[in-house]
Amino acid sequence: MPTPAEVIEGQRQDWNRVAAGWDKWDNYFSRNMTFINHRLVADARLRPGMRVLDLGSGTGYPALLAGDVVGREGSVVGIDLAQSMLAVAARKAKALGMHHVSFRAGDATALPFEAASFDAVISRFCLMFLPEIPKALKDMARVLKPGGYVAAAVWSTPEKNPFVRVPMDVIKTIIPLPPPDPEAPGIFRLAKPGDLTGMLEGAGLPSLSEEEFLADVTYATAEEFFNSLMDIAAPIQNLFSTLTAEQKAQAERGIIEAVNAYRRQDRIVLPIAVRVVAARKPVV
Ligand SMILES: C[S@@+](CC[C@H](N)C(=O)[O-])C[C@H]1O[C@@H](n2cnc3c(N)ncnc32)[C@H](O)[C@@H]1O
Repeated sequence: MPTPAEVIEGQRQDWNRVAAGWDKWDNYFSRNMTFINHRLVADARLRPGMRVLDLGSGTGYPALLAGDVVGREGSVVGIDLAQSMLAVAARKAKALGMHHVSFRAGDATALPFEAASFDAVISRFCLMFLPEIPKALKDMARVLKPGGYVAAAVWSTPEKNPFVRVPMDVIKTIIPLPPPDPEAPGIFRLAKPGDLTGMLEGAGLPSLSEEEFLADVTYATAEEFFNSLMDIAAPIQNLFSTLTAEQKAQAERGIIEAVNAYRRQDRIVLPIAVRVVAARKPVV
């Protein structure tokens, strides 16, 4: 079992490695995932003038939309382990003239901020990778002002997210994979209903809402899906790195064939299920 420090170092290396891929597929994220940013901004009740923290901002989501909403009289700080992801985020903020949106390298489990210094905390697809989620949520509660909101998105179960389940199922036909440890950090660590909500409550952040938010993401072709997966999905890349060249080719063929089952007219349409959770720090 890796130590928290080892998990964090592994995450840093993984996400730095795929940063160029996230930059390359940025249009895909805009097309397919922006509605999740809007949902988080709404759940966190963001308004002009607020100071907002985005945990695990990666290449800038949802920090940049938050920056748009809070405006220049507010500010947004995005924190992430991976400098190379943040370099992409900072470039985008600069291109948009968003000088009130900044990015800072750091660990979400040990926030380098004063107590009660943010009006809201938002996070998309980061919390399940943390080795010590309850500790991170306590620190999140510390930096929130009384009455401040939290809104976070994490992945729901693999059955409802074929973009990960299908590749894993195909890889499992090629090499044996140990059953995933439900407590280990990873894409589906917070998939279970009530898990994140319960942990937020344990950190002194009573729940406002939890929803399994269902949607579709689209790709021009199954090959486009495969190529984007290999560029952006650090955990799948790690599995691929254990395969021989022949096994990789077999996995690629298998994944493309399986994903073609999701063709609808001229596109590949994959369902996704995102768990969206909101909480609020008590006013006093
Ligand atoms: C799947 S990406 C999501 C990025 C972005 N929020 C988005 O939705 O496009 C996960 C991000 O979480 C970051 N991350 C993982 N563990 C972290 C930690 N302990 N502290 C801060 N960031 C972390 C990774 O570096 C990576 O950029």
